[in-house]
This record gives sequence, structure tokens and C-alpha cells, in this order.
Amino acid sequence: MSNPRSVLAVRNLSKSIHSGTHRVDILRGIDFEIPAGQFAAIEGPSGSGKSTLLGLMAGLDTPTAGDVAIDGQSIVGLAEDEMALLRGRKIGFVFQSYQLVPTLNAVENVTLPLDLTGSWNSHAEKRAVELLEQFGLGDRLDHYPVQLSGGEQQRVAVARAFAAKPPIVLADEPTGNLDSRNGALVLEMLRSLNRAEGATLILVTHDAALASQADRRIVLKDGLVVADKAGRAVSTASGK
Ligand SMILES: Nc1ncnc2c1ncn2[C@@H]1O[C@H](COP(=O)(O)OP(=O)(O)O)[C@@H](O)[C@H]1O
Ligand SMILES: [Mg+2]
Repeated sequence: MSNPRSVLAVRNLSKSIHSGTHRVDILRGIDFEIPAGQFAAIEGPSGSGKSTLLGLMAGLDTPTAGDVAIDGQSIVGLAEDEMALLRGRKIGFVFQSYQLVPTLNAVENVTLPLDLTGSWNSHAEKRAVELLEQFGLGDRLDHYPVQLSGGEQQRVAVARAFAAKPPIVLADEPTGNLDSRNGALVLEMLRSLNRAEGATLILVTHDAALASQADRRIVLKDGLVVADKAGRAVSTASGK
């Protein structure tokens, strides 16, 4: 648990795009390593390159230069199907806009990644129900997304991200559409699962107050890391 091996490493990562006659340098040489189990925030103003960086870390986009390694394996240059397989096994996602499947109920949305990675079994539904009950959705198990509030949908989405016990969970502005109370509930759920399951949590946000809740804050500005510092003191108390 305390072995700080790096689960995700970003090395000299750059991304430029050509727009008309201009070249836009979105990321200009990013370096960091995230130890297993860490809760790290990537923070910066809108347009600083956060979502681009997240897409590169998930192998959804290819860099102009540099490398991304997951569990020591370089993902740059992997074939699409190999990357999809790796992503399914190693990465859970939480999006700002929830992205639940409208035709599936809460439990079915949570078990979906277990179906897709072939790890579905009789325990999958039990785990989905437990996760949902633990975070206050015990009376919403068979509700469809349209029947759930934004905060409830995002809690289902967080349960889905952790369902297959991926070593890494990436969350892009997960509280961006929520009021402060629901945002706090979603953050508490992310933190709690990060601790309980040991999954590395990387949270992208423009909100410094939210980033300050993380163990570590990597601050981006104009495609560069301008600060990499400790977040809130890691509590040793186990009660909550
Ligand atoms: N496909 C694209 N074409 C042109 N500009 C882009 C494209 N993708 C991103 N950008 C630009 O790159 C910058 C960083 O974008 P993004 O990674 O979405 O930032 P953030 O998530 O921090 O708001 C922005 O200025 C954005 O306009
Ligand atoms: Mg963004």
C-alpha cells in the first residue's frame, strides 16, 4: 500500500495542432509521475490544456512528442485495439456531463464496464448495488438516468468508474455541472473510493478550492506545469 511506485508517468509531453496557417502549442513539455494510490489534482484556468493532457494520458489522443507510461508500459504507438483493451482494464473515467447510458438503469450503468472487460460475474451486480447503497442511492437502483438528478447521475458515474477496480481513475471537472452541495458529495465519494480501493485518482479542475482537497496539486498554465506541490495535509485519522 505504501510502495510509491509510479502508476502513470508523463515525460516531456507536447501537443501541437495546426489550425489554418497557425501552429497552436497546447502542451509544451509536461513531466510528472503519479505514485500508485495518490489523489492528484491537475489544475489550471480554462484553456490551459488540462483536457488535452487527460486525453493523452488515456491514450485517446496522440502526442506530438514525449511519452505516457501506464504501469511502466509506454502507450504511445500502441495499436487502437491494444489501447482499448489496456484502457478497459486500467482506467475508469468520470466526465463533467455524467455520460450515463440512457437506456440502462443505475445498477446496469455501474456494471457496464464489468461487462465490457469480460470481468462480469455474479458478484458484479452485488458490487454495483453495494457501491450505490454506500453512497445514498439505495432507493434509486432501478432508476434510469432521466429519473435522477444531476448529483445522483454523477454518483452513479463515479460508482461506474470504480466498478471494475481500475488502478487509475481520471475525472475531468466532475463537479463542474453541480451545485456546491452535490459537488461536495461527489468529491467525498471520489476521495472515499480512492482511499478504500487504493485506486490512483487524477482530478482535472479549474477550481483551486477543489484542487486544494487533493494530496498533490499539479498546476498548468499555457501548456506548462508552473507548480507541483502538496495539497491538503494527508490525514492519518481513519474515522469520518
Ligand atoms: N482541436 C483543437 N483545435 C484547436 N484548438 C484546440 C483544439 N483542442 C484544444 N484546443 C485549444 O487548446 C487549448 C487547451 O484546451 P483544453 O485542453 O481543452 O483546455 P482546458 O481543459 O484546460 O480548458 C485551448 O486554447 C483550446 O482552444
Ligand atoms: Mg477541459
